[in-house]
Amino acid sequence: MKVQENQIECETLLDAGAVLEKLRRSSLYKQFHWLESVPSTQAVAKQIGEENAPHGTLVWAEYQTEGRGRRGRVWEAAKGENLIFSLLLRSSFRAEDLFWVTACLGLAVCYGLETVSGLAGMIKWPNDIFLEGKKVGGILTEARFDGSLTRYIVSGLGLNVNWNPQKDKEMPYPVTSVSREVRECIKREDLLGEILQGFERLFSFLECGNRRSIEEAWLSRFILLGKRVLVIGDGGEFECTVTGLRKDGALLIQRSNGTEEPVFAGDVSLRM
Ligand code: BTN
Repeated sequence: MKVQENQIECETLLDAGAVLEKLRRSSLYKQFHWLESVPSTQAVAKQIGEENAPHGTLVWAEYQTEGRGRRGRVWEAAKGENLIFSLLLRSSFRAEDLFWVTACLGLAVCYGLETVSGLAGMIKWPNDIFLEGKKVGGILTEARFDGSLTRYIVSGLGLNVNWNPQKDKEMPYPVTSVSREVRECIKREDLLGEILQGFERLFSFLECGNRRSIEEAWLSRFILLGKRVLVIGDGGEFECTVTGLRKDGALLIQRSNGTEEPVFAGDVSLRM
């Protein structure tokens, strides 16, 4: 580890063997694609989803050139510093239940962060992971449907682990990395192993119909509950108070005139 001008330098290549060792008892993860550089792990996972890659295929990359975020945004990640992966799942979900896949991955990330860093990861609806009040990661869940059920689901995570946020880059919200918060280099193998093991456990609850326990755990990590937020959509922006979460993952908000209504993840961004 090198400390330069308040920056922690800890670039290393991931030891995939160490992650596989942690997952050797897994019954979910069946196939692994460890890639050095790809345009987007999400695109690769979707492509192999169209072919015959099995349920539980993990596409991991050290670096992406065309990483994508929610609502068409770019997801940038420096080489050797972060975690970038997409997980292909072949479970059947209805569109209105898909949010809970993102919820399972979000919770797994929060638990993994806590184990590895001692800090509580939190979730900003629908898909942002926060550490110490700043965005540390994001999840993008996409699906291909056959009629009303998913043919496959791809849930992708970008997590800032050993990255130094650039001062010169303007972001619309504060960003951080795990190493920035704990002031030391993080073993990405440990964090990835924890996240994948946690996701397997949570996803098995979800598949067994135990959504209620996921919902309770998710709400306990939900940083927006009761807060004033700015909702930004194509039709403009407005301030409101967050009052809860609907079963289909829509956010419930209360307008200044007292009316309560849902807002949908595909339609808006939120600012705290
Ligand atoms: C967001 O905050 O908007 C979600 C970001 C999700 C980024 C991840 S990085 C791995 C996977 N591959 C991509 O191109 N996007 C997701």
